[in-house]
Amino acid sequence: MSTTNIDEGKLNAFIGQMLSDLGGASSIAMARMGDALGLYKIIQAKGPMTSIELANAAKADERYLREWLSHQAASNYLSYDPATTKFALPPEQAMVFADEESPVYMMGGFDLMAALLDNQPKVQTAFKAGSGVAWGDQAGCMFCAVARFFRPGYHNNLVPAWLPALEGVVPKLEAGARVADVGCGHGWSTVLMAKAFPKSQFVGYDFHPDSIRDATAHAAEHGVGANAKFEVGLAKDYGGKDFDLVTCFDCLHDMGDPKGAAAHIRQSLKPDGTWMIVEPMAGDTLQENLNPVGRLYYAGSTMICLPTSRAQEVGAALGAQAGEKKLQEVIRSGGFSRVRRATETPFNMILEARP
Ligand SMILES: C[S@@+](CC[C@H](N)C(=O)[O-])C[C@H]1O[C@@H](n2cnc3c(N)ncnc32)[C@H](O)[C@@H]1O
Repeated sequence: MSTTNIDEGKLNAFIGQMLSDLGGASSIAMARMGDALGLYKIIQAKGPMTSIELANAAKADERYLREWLSHQAASNYLSYDPATTKFALPPEQAMVFADEESPVYMMGGFDLMAALLDNQPKVQTAFKAGSGVAWGDQAGCMFCAVARFFRPGYHNNLVPAWLPALEGVVPKLEAGARVADVGCGHGWSTVLMAKAFPKSQFVGYDFHPDSIRDATAHAAEHGVGANAKFEVGLAKDYGGKDFDLVTCFDCLHDMGDPKGAAAHIRQSLKPDGTWMIVEPMAGDTLQENLNPVGRLYYAGSTMICLPTSRAQEVGAALGAQAGEKKLQEVIRSGGFSRVRRATETPFNMILEARP
């Protein structure tokens, strides 16, 4: 191999990036094990611990734990004090690994990365044929990973920020409105809204029967079974009508026929109704999305969103980085005349569409 054109500095910088990338990939199994065995939460609750103390508290093998703890310290996930040989979970890291209500709780992200790996054989086959992989056939509990990944964002933003950003929607919800949450998945968004607005009636639709079963269970667990119900339904032909609000959380781009969905949603709304569309943050051009958020979304889009859309009728495959311009085109094609970006976070854009 000729190395005449190799720039040492660039090579070293890139090797540094690869070390960091591989380190991140190596953390998928390690962080998920810390979560599954309750290790982060134990260290958070009990404070700095030695491996022996953690072994007693977690009722697990000290030698394995010592290796895990060492990896966590090398990853800056835990801190280590050589004087006491204790490991601690700093408060900032606790927000990411232990506090499920925190806006930056990211364990769902690790689950999602594991699901991408599990999906690889099926998606690889689909690459050749240009075919899809149905949502229900994707690997492991991808649906649980997706739900867990998005929940912190919904928990911290949906009721306090996103709904109030829509024109006149909160007063309607407070008084008692009819709401459809289309593509609701495990129904966390539906449950949050049903809890916050007990006078309103919510119905969650999704075409994946297992997700509807889980959403129904979540609603019952959270005491909103009376005003939140769930039904199997396709976005382009679910049964309900006369809704004041229809919501779509991170699912429009997954649909095979998003334009068909837009048209159906339009006719299921009251004349003064609102469609709220939550989509991944993205610019309209590829160059705008060449950043860490775009990187994650393009991977999720390749391994989950495109296969899901391609497995359905039409197979539009918008992709998770469709961008507002393309999304507006789809939304307007369904008969919506006013579309605007109501608000945004670093991960999501919240679009409001009116008839
Ligand atoms: C990425 S998940 C998002 C789930 C949920 N809204 C959330 O935010 O956690 C996409 C969801 O869209 C659903 N979906 C995809 N295509 C659909 C369609 N054509 N009709 C109804 N649901 C669909 C999938 O079953 C899945 O639950």
